Amino acid sequence: MSGILVLNGSPRRRGTTSWMISALLDTLEGEKEIISAYKSGVSPCIDCRSCWKTRGCAIADGMQEIYRKIDAADVVIFASPIYFHSVTGPLKILIDRLQVYWASRLRKDRALDRRKVGAALMCGGSPVFPRQFDGGEIVLRNVLKDLNAEWAGMAVLPDTDRDPHGDVIGFSGEILRLGEAVRTLMGKVL
Ligand SMILES: Cc1cc2nc3c(=O)[nH]c(=O)nc-3n(C[C@H](O)[C@H](O)[C@H](O)COP(=O)(O)O)c2cc1C
Repeated sequence: MSGILVLNGSPRRRGTTSWMISALLDTLEGEKEIISAYKSGVSPCIDCRSCWKTRGCAIADGMQEIYRKIDAADVVIFASPIYFHSVTGPLKILIDRLQVYWASRLRKDRALDRRKVGAALMCGGSPVFPRQFDGGEIVLRNVLKDLNAEWAGMAVLPDTDRDPHGDVIGFSGEILRLGEAVRTLMGKVL
């Protein structure tokens, strides 16, 4: 059975991001796990450069378990509200710790790692404006590349202050389309 791992960057248990995650997971079959960046207590990367030399991270904290879960996952989904044009701070801390995968890619010592499928969910409180989600998209597309994940796409919801579940714009179709894209790629890549 496929393993689906979600890294959740929202602090709000019943917020829009949590709702988007549930809606997307409902479209997917597999073993599902959601990790909260806010609850993870992961320390920031300190650029010690240990991962430049050897595979893995020198900081002994909860991230070690998250590395194991990422390694075992077939699908990795990042989900975050937009805070000042990017993902939230705790999710960015967790993402910075994924530098170990970037270093491994340079050394090519993860050549035998199997491919994954990647996707992203983001929401923003402001009414839609040009490039509202660009900051988050750049971060998430690139980290998924380092995780050897094929990009299935993203679903983004603006104007959540007014319309938290996208009812007014009929957003749920976007989630269904992303679910379908993830399933299609799972069939091709895994
Ligand atoms: C510190 C902070 C910064 C924010 N910056 C942005 C922003 O740059 N663009 C935007 O559209 N919304 C911004 N928002 C609004 C959130 O993205 C919005 O409320 C979102 O729906 C929260 O998601 P959640 O309910 O899943 O936690 C910001 C909110 C906070 C608290």
